[in-house]
Amino acid sequence: MYTQALNTNPDSGERQLEDAGLAARFQARVDAEERIEPNDWMPAAYRRTLTRQISQHAHSEIVGMLPEGNWLTRAPSLRRKAALLAKVQDECGHGLYLYAAAETLGSSREELVDQLLSGKAKYSSIFNYPTLTWADIGAIGWLVDGAAIMNQIPLCRCSYGPYARAMIRVCKEESFHQRQGYEIMLTLSRGTPEQKEMAQDALNRWWWPCLMMFGPPDAASLHSDTSTLWKIKRFSNDELRQKFVDATVPQARILGLSLPDPELRLDEESGHWRYGEIDWDEFKQVIAGNGPCNRERLAARRKAHDEGEWVREAALAYAQKQRGKALAA
Ligand SMILES: [Fe+2]
Ligand SMILES: [Fe+2]
Repeated sequence: MYTQALNTNPDSGERQLEDAGLAARFQARVDAEERIEPNDWMPAAYRRTLTRQISQHAHSEIVGMLPEGNWLTRAPSLRRKAALLAKVQDECGHGLYLYAAAETLGSSREELVDQLLSGKAKYSSIFNYPTLTWADIGAIGWLVDGAAIMNQIPLCRCSYGPYARAMIRVCKEESFHQRQGYEIMLTLSRGTPEQKEMAQDALNRWWWPCLMMFGPPDAASLHSDTSTLWKIKRFSNDELRQKFVDATVPQARILGLSLPDPELRLDEESGHWRYGEIDWDEFKQVIAGNGPCNRERLAARRKAHDEGEWVREAALAYAQKQRGKALAA
């Protein structure tokens, strides 16, 4: 039973008692799988955790457009270009849904975007890796979007209503992204020896960073306990990582490609694929801003933000004009 109040005012004993009651009622609703909505009472720490998680998720969608956007003009056919364009636009839509969901918790879009552009907010480490060949677009769809699905499907049952609802549509689109990536990999792996080699090279470069996407191992994770209690998180980082590995190994076999892990083996007893040691130092470096493309990604977002200023100004001026008209009528 959870009774500790989380947003107590130390100056007021009465307020503390009131908050303890509200916190207990909040937790009972969460335990009963009720959705928490924007105007409902919630502990301040729940609001903070969700604002951080949803805004980081939004930033990841927006920054995530950059590695693939890099290949829009170089897609090898009209069909490939149309699919990639649709995917990149979907990611933009995901970012916008998620900013809107984060705004329902009381932070403004401007605040959240500022946190990204100033380098204060984090986004997924995976988008700081470069896309060197066309096969990287296949590997990203197959693996990065595949990992995103593993993470996001349980979020459809997140206790916070606006986030859970946004995830339902996002997951449908992610499954299209994963399939388009896998199909690129399938085509390349059944193509010429050079094409197959290109697919293998992309897999070699993306595999380990994808495993890092699930975050630090459970023993070192900071946020899991309260997130689990509040039913924001349904599975631990290691559980999700294991699900991803188990789902991906057979897919790699169908492609005829090998995963770059000499320690990968099937544990007959549990039925799980056991994988080798993840290089957590690399992960920490990328998170700290020292990945191969961190600076480039932020510079691209800042440039886009600056160049879009006139659009924001024009939209604001138009809204003011419409308000003026409505008042005059
Ligand atoms: Fe997405
Ligand atoms: Fe996606």
